[in-house]
Amino acid sequence: MANKITITQPDDWHLHVRTGNILKAVLPHTARQFARAIIMPNLTPPVSTVDRALRYRAEIIQAIPENTPFTPLMTLYLTDATSREEIEKAAQSEHLYACKLYPAGATTNSDAGVSHVSRIYPVLEAMQQHDLPLLVHGEATDSEYDIFDREKIFIEQTLDAIVKRFPALRIVVEHVTTQEAVQFVQTADANIAATITPQHLLFNRNALLAGGIRPHHYCLPILKREKHRQALVDAAVSGSSKFFLGTDSAPHLQQRKESACGCAGCYSAHAALELYCEVFDRADAMDRLEGFASFHGADFYRLPRNRSTITLVKNTWKVPSDYPVDADKLIPLKAGETLAWRILEQW
Ligand code: DOR
Ligand code: ZN
Repeated sequence: MANKITITQPDDWHLHVRTGNILKAVLPHTARQFARAIIMPNLTPPVSTVDRALRYRAEIIQAIPENTPFTPLMTLYLTDATSREEIEKAAQSEHLYACKLYPAGATTNSDAGVSHVSRIYPVLEAMQQHDLPLLVHGEATDSEYDIFDREKIFIEQTLDAIVKRFPALRIVVEHVTTQEAVQFVQTADANIAATITPQHLLFNRNALLAGGIRPHHYCLPILKREKHRQALVDAAVSGSSKFFLGTDSAPHLQQRKESACGCAGCYSAHAALELYCEVFDRADAMDRLEGFASFHGADFYRLPRNRSTITLVKNTWKVPSDYPVDADKLIPLKAGETLAWRILEQW
């Protein structure tokens, strides 16, 4: 396998950048490698109107380093109160690309999410009509459900019903973590796709719990058993256009992660593409990286593929132990560890 690879510049189809000082700290990491990113709307208060999304977009644009071409693709946070009119407004905006369904209580800042999917049927109808994609955090929220089963239960109880009721709606099942989710997407029609994160490709649940609790590996959906990780790797390297790159890079300050009740989220933007390289290289599938990272997502969103390129070389480097944010820190995925691939040049 070659030690150098040049691919079309990739995009990140699932990204959290927050606001303020965290935004300023993390955005350069993403803009260094990705041309575009789908920006998650789970701020407090949530980005649940087009006006708010446009204001958030303006803040993100301010944080892009000079001479770095990067385009944020904005999304709308669905609530029980989202109106059809707001969907129409979103569909007409050149800056909104999708709407995100967080089941209420499923994850970080999801309290304002949807209490029951039937509440938003008129909204999903409007999205289908306007061909606005639905991005789904696919986990059932009832507290009696085992946390390792929540994705599977959501698919059976909710996602299947959405797909049957709105057969033309384009849906991205975000950050899939199980064999069942992979199979659901594989066997569904072409309008159903999925993103896969680096942490779910690299780690199984031992990385969270064996030898001590590792809060920086805690994310939602939670890491699963090895057989599920293997199913995700197989899907990512399969060449299927239904699977594409979405880091779910989710920065939380060190203190909020290393706590008696730590926040969910892995920070991966510092080395996103390099982390995916580890996975594809180990699977002897570097020739499939470009499709996964640079083509499948753009095609699904019906956006032009990027024209610029990025070159990676097999040349080890050590991930910093942390990245400062004012007096606090972000602890990145693989902090202090060595990665095999590094970005050489871009554009
Ligand atoms: O681990 C996660 N972190 N999963 C999510 O769904 C949200 C994200 C965040 O915003 O921190
Ligand atoms: Zn996310």
